[in-house]
Amino acid sequence: MEKSFVVKGNICQTVTSKKLDLHENSFAVCIDGLSVGVFEDLPEEYTHLPLYDYKDALIFPGMVDLHVHAPQYAFRGMCMDLELMDWLNRYTFPEEEKYEDLEYAEKAYGMFVNAFKKGATTRACIFATRHRYATELLMELMEESGLISFVGKVNMDREASKALTEDSADISAYTTFGWINAVNNRFKNTKPILTPRFIPCCTDKLMEELRQIQMAYGIPVQSHLSESKGEIDFVKILRPNNSFYGDSYNEYDLFGKNDDIDTDVKTVMAHCVWSTDKEVELMRKNGVFIAHCPASNMNLTSGIAPIRKYLNAGINIGLGSDIAGGHSESIFRAITDTIQVSKMYFRMVDDSFAPLVFSEAFYLATKGGGAFFGKVGSFEKSYEFDAVVLDDGVLPHPQSLNLAERMERAVYLGLDEKNITAKFVAGRKII
Ligand code: GUN
Ligand code: FE
Repeated sequence: MEKSFVVKGNICQTVTSKKLDLHENSFAVCIDGLSVGVFEDLPEEYTHLPLYDYKDALIFPGMVDLHVHAPQYAFRGMCMDLELMDWLNRYTFPEEEKYEDLEYAEKAYGMFVNAFKKGATTRACIFATRHRYATELLMELMEESGLISFVGKVNMDREASKALTEDSADISAYTTFGWINAVNNRFKNTKPILTPRFIPCCTDKLMEELRQIQMAYGIPVQSHLSESKGEIDFVKILRPNNSFYGDSYNEYDLFGKNDDIDTDVKTVMAHCVWSTDKEVELMRKNGVFIAHCPASNMNLTSGIAPIRKYLNAGINIGLGSDIAGGHSESIFRAITDTIQVSKMYFRMVDDSFAPLVFSEAFYLATKGGGAFFGKVGSFEKSYEFDAVVLDDGVLPHPQSLNLAERMERAVYLGLDEKNITAKFVAGRKII
């Protein structure tokens, strides 16, 4: 079996968020794409399998990016001095308009996919643009890469530049039907996800049409929620009858589980910086995932999402790069940003919410976001085998280091941006 093998090295993971689970010089066994477990001595029954011996390298579960905009990769690290609504109008919408042109899309998406393939991320939830054909092109490139992803053609029928706004709710829905029919079941690793951009860009009529599409196809949903003050004030004007922002997705059954109609709509909402207690309670009840994107929240001056509060409430949480609100595709970076902003929240805002420690943030980047994809994010038995192999020999040190120190240092020093030795996705070696 092609996807059955053994990987040897220093295996580092978080089975629970409370502590690191470290195995020096050990064996991770993969049978038919699924993990069997980690062993200090290789059981006899697996000795016939091919062995990848990575010697003294570090082996982590693959990173999960729960929120990223592929078309914004081209302008990451630029145009960072505005808040969300002005940033969208001034820079983001003009850049996304370009994806009408398939030649530009192919060039730009090629660079995006290359970068993701080379890094530590194995799975992602991706926004494309409103353009159907460029979105299909991105899906083809993602499929070729071997990475696993949900990709969304964006829906937006108001409040953007003329070129980026779809002509009507009907046209947006019609295009979305065409797109889903073309891509649903076409790819093994690349699946469609319904993607209303956010409430300011979606009319009530469009939201109603998206509800119908979701019911017809049962596909998951991604969007933005309670990210920035200006956005939230605008949503209050647009939807005065909803008592909180998330209720305007929930009203259209695009917000997780709904016991009333007995459906489970797998949903991920990015940001949730300013979620009210009622919004938090509904996310918990409905099993909505939060994609925490700390770099973006700093760059766009959105604020600090109180992740400790959401963890205490029992919400599903993963990390997102939010390229290009965030400037780096590195989820290692998102881990350290998560820890740092939680420390600032504790010190500057509310000292009843303790900062996150390293094991907790690593867990969010792996098993936390991985749960959106199923059993993903560790080498426990029956988890899908996603792994990255990192050679930290390129980071010199005079003192001796234990494995916990090596793991933390690899993340803080951004080893994923320097050198990935090998990478496996659901048991397929892609690097
Ligand atoms: N809200 C609506 N669109 C966007 C986007 O492209 N980036 C971010 N960060 N927030 C959004
Ligand atoms: Fe975003």
